[in-house]
Amino acid sequence: MSQVHVIAHPMIQHKLSIMRDKDTGSKDFRILLNEISLLMGYEVTRDIPLEDYQIETPICPMTAKRVQGKKLAIVPILRAGLGMVDGLLSLIPIAKVGHIGLYRDETTHKPVVYYCKLPADIEHRLVIVTDPMLATGGSCCDAVSMLKERGCDNIRLMCLVAAPEGIDAIQREHPDVDIYVAAIDKELNENAYIVPGLGDAGDRIFGTK
Ligand code: PRP
Ligand code: URA
Repeated sequence: MSQVHVIAHPMIQHKLSIMRDKDTGSKDFRILLNEISLLMGYEVTRDIPLEDYQIETPICPMTAKRVQGKKLAIVPILRAGLGMVDGLLSLIPIAKVGHIGLYRDETTHKPVVYYCKLPADIEHRLVIVTDPMLATGGSCCDAVSMLKERGCDNIRLMCLVAAPEGIDAIQREHPDVDIYVAAIDKELNENAYIVPGLGDAGDRIFGTK
């Protein structure tokens, strides 16, 4: 069973509350999402393996540590997942970035794929999938399935706000994928929006409503 990590650091909770407020505009919403993503990235990468290598400091040779192997890929789910990429890249500048385009059909609430472009060697990387909202879980489940079809077997999911239904869906369909969230909210409403949530993340990031 995948683990759910709720990153309840006070600074993350403080910033998330400002994002939830309906009077927070797009500019501040983007800045806060960026800041939270960097802070969450610290936890998402807490246990990645290191290897030894030799360097020389200005004083003497030493055995130093670096991140092992083919390293990481960040894969945002378009559109809203894009808002979490820059924060993660400022923590992990060597990461490659792939993109998966999905939107939820307004009546069925089921995801529809419209784009997929991934790094050529993605199957050798730890993949961090980003999407601020884990609602029914359909979008994240499909994105993870697409990555597994490309051979990825080391995938983590980083979301901002989750509904219990979304967490259940990932645990049922992808029990090997750990989930990192800043908050687990109460429920979904009749339009499959997270309650209390923060509204439509894509619209709030890009100012499209
Ligand atoms: C939102 C959000 C997730 C999805 C979550 O995207 O960013 O991708 O809905 O819902 P789910 O867990 O029920 O699948 P949306 O479909 O609104 O597309 P957008 O980011 O392009 O606005
Ligand atoms: N997508 C969003 O952007 N917000 C929700 O609450 C649910 C899906």
